Amino acid sequence: MSVVHYYETMEYGPALEADGEARAWLKRHAAVFGHFIGGKFVAPHSGKHLTTIEPATGKTLARIAQGSAADVEAAVSAARTAQPHWVKLGGHGRARHLYALARMLQRHARLFAVLEAIDNGKPIRETRDLDVPLATRHFLYHAGWAQLQEREFADQVPIGVIGQIIPWNFPLLMLAWKIAPALAAGNTVALKPAEFTSLTALLFAELAAETGLPPGVLNVLTGDGATGALLVENPGVDKIAFTGSTEVGRLIRQSTAGSGKSLTLELGGKSPFIVFDDADIDGAVEGVVDAIWLNQGQVCCAGSRLLLQEGIADTFRRRLIRRMETLRVGMPLDKAIDMGAVVAPVQLERIKSLVETGVREGAEKYQAPGAIPEGGCFYPPTLLWNVHPSSTVAIEEIFGPVLVAMTFRTPDEAVMLANNTRYGLAASVWSETIGLALDIAPKLLAGVVWVNATNLFDASVGFGGYRESGFGREGGREGMYEYLKPRAWSGRKARAKALPPPAPTADSAGFGVPPIDRTAKLFVGGKQVRPDGNYPRAVLSPKGRHLGEVGEGNRKDIRNAVAAARAAEPWARATAHNRAQILYYLAENLSARGDEFARRIADMTGVSGAKARVEVDASIERLFSYGAWADKFEGSIHAPPLRGVVLAMHEPIGVVGVACPDEAPLLGFVSLVAPLIAMGNRVVVVPSERHPLAATDFYQVLETSDVPAGVVNIVTGGRDDLVKVLAEHDDVDALWVFGSQEASASAERLSIGNLKRTLVDHGLLLDWYDRAACEGPILLRHALQVKNIWIPYGD
Ligand code: NAI
Repeated sequence: MSVVHYYETMEYGPALEADGEARAWLKRHAAVFGHFIGGKFVAPHSGKHLTTIEPATGKTLARIAQGSAADVEAAVSAARTAQPHWVKLGGHGRARHLYALARMLQRHARLFAVLEAIDNGKPIRETRDLDVPLATRHFLYHAGWAQLQEREFADQVPIGVIGQIIPWNFPLLMLAWKIAPALAAGNTVALKPAEFTSLTALLFAELAAETGLPPGVLNVLTGDGATGALLVENPGVDKIAFTGSTEVGRLIRQSTAGSGKSLTLELGGKSPFIVFDDADIDGAVEGVVDAIWLNQGQVCCAGSRLLLQEGIADTFRRRLIRRMETLRVGMPLDKAIDMGAVVAPVQLERIKSLVETGVREGAEKYQAPGAIPEGGCFYPPTLLWNVHPSSTVAIEEIFGPVLVAMTFRTPDEAVMLANNTRYGLAASVWSETIGLALDIAPKLLAGVVWVNATNLFDASVGFGGYRESGFGREGGREGMYEYLKPRAWSGRKARAKALPPPAPTADSAGFGVPPIDRTAKLFVGGKQVRPDGNYPRAVLSPKGRHLGEVGEGNRKDIRNAVAAARAAEPWARATAHNRAQILYYLAENLSARGDEFARRIADMTGVSGAKARVEVDASIERLFSYGAWADKFEGSIHAPPLRGVVLAMHEPIGVVGVACPDEAPLLGFVSLVAPLIAMGNRVVVVPSERHPLAATDFYQVLETSDVPAGVVNIVTGGRDDLVKVLAEHDDVDALWVFGSQEASASAERLSIGNLKRTLVDHGLLLDWYDRAACEGPILLRHALQVKNIWIPYGD
């Protein structure tokens, strides 16, 4: 027998991490936990507990409290009581606490890593090298934002009490992503971990209290989805931040609609992993291992769709299968394994059934041949080859160690396939040609793009999705804004209920020559078009004088306007210089007709001529302001701890529906439309319902200012009805609604189809003349989404 024979048959010995400290912690609590509220463990009001198991063995690990409405109320009121004191502590005080939390994590790194591995089933190698260090980095980084808050976010204030609901795939890391920015910004928190994996959150809360975090600043409520739903509904919560399934994200959007609670959703994904034929194939194969077999594939941004250029597909497959042969599935505490256990039996069943569906629909299945431990929730690394783009497994998020592979021929086809998903969380692009990779990255509809890399994360780089992957960002400066609100928007008053329209007065010119009848049409695709229903709507002065007529837009008109806006996509790629020029040109042409607009405003609203002129001048200035911002509100470059850079690019959201308020009919219109088009969006605008003529007069300004057809579309009519149509339209990407509480609520409630980003006023008045409240970054930030492109370099 040769040495080579021994070498090849040599088994790995077990290299188990010691679990004594974690087991001792469980024992100290008799493996039964209450909620952590107001700085201490408290028993659940209902006395009910859930059992949490160890996925690798199926054995019971502990019992955790099932939160009831009374428990949720207790956690929220503890957070409410603590919040003003936490704010008063100031940025530096909070920075010290966050720094202490980072140090606490470092001191107890092994305990956290072991407990997480036992509770979740993931390999200790990952909890030790990724989850715990990254969680620590989040606290350290956000200690910095707390320190700089008064200077860098001087125009912002904390939101208040934040309800946070997190999933089971990265329990400690998600806790850090959620609570670090929230606490840094001066909020207090009620956090609900996932029912499968609550232990590290309870340990964290306990050790945080020992570190001196004041009672009530962080409260941990355990329980299942019912507890989550109670937290969402609790009126004492000012914001919900959720990570989890798209299905639950939709429910939360619906139940918070109209409540005034802000919301961020980090949802599922079906991220493409694109390999061009000039890629470093071995590097890309290693990338695949990280992309889909990290954490058993239970990663929202897992590279779960492998798109291979045809010429290299067979070679890639061979090498990937060879690599799969070496992957080891084993007990989470074994330091020498690649994959551990899936989180729970229900998840294992879901994975099995989706793989069976994939095979039934024509995919070829290959599974890594290594042994799998008995008795726990284990599933082997799996490759589904020859998957059709319309197959279930190519569309549904499997959330397990299952890679589906497809091929493409050209870069355009790669982009098409990559974007052929309702999600948009992340993407990987592999090519040795930097020009190609950087050409593809902006075309991918995803919040994060990794070039020749995958699954890189850092606290300084925002993370979050496009489309049905949710909205909001975690990490970076943009992540801080999710936990702040504009100071200038505090203390807004509710809009008084609109008076009924005046009765029309007779306005006969007698036997004099009457003015020429003029009914303003709609403005769609750069043309003035008749409304579909052909019904007019009278526009009256406050005294009831007939000023003109506008079209009564309906569902079909909105559909046409959205189609025109969609077709104006080149605007998104127009240079910022070009967009700036057009905004200045709009200002120039509005100025040329300033007196006419002022007369119109005075007639419609009854303000004096001088006051109306002030509104026109403010509108001209606002257009100038966005002309200025168009080529200055740029992205940034981050320097996370790696050799390389991250480009944080500002990208338009797409097609945005806008409903304008009745106050300041021209200035309100300009203030909402200009930031959106400055950032490259196309808009479908419903102007002031009561005073629409300033917007319809604006058609001619648009026509003479080189605004490309379809960039601005205007549909007059009943605001609340048209907002509903916009909210339900799945080709509208975002909705801004100013003007009524009802329209705000229905915009939020009805936008769940494609999970639109919404910005609404909840019926609260804004002073459109107040620059601090209505001009510049305050709105520009809502007019774009940040895409982070990671570009590591060197060998
Ligand atoms: P889930 O979305 O049901 O659970 C996530 C969190 O939401 C948990 O804390 C849960 O208790 C809570 N929750 C559940 N129902 C709720 C409700 N009605 N109101 C408020 N909170 C509620 O996810 P689940 O069932 O654990 O996993 C199902 C699928 O979701 C996975 O197979 C995967 O596809 C996806 N998922 C995606 C994650 C991501 O990071 N994007 C994370 C976890 C799951």
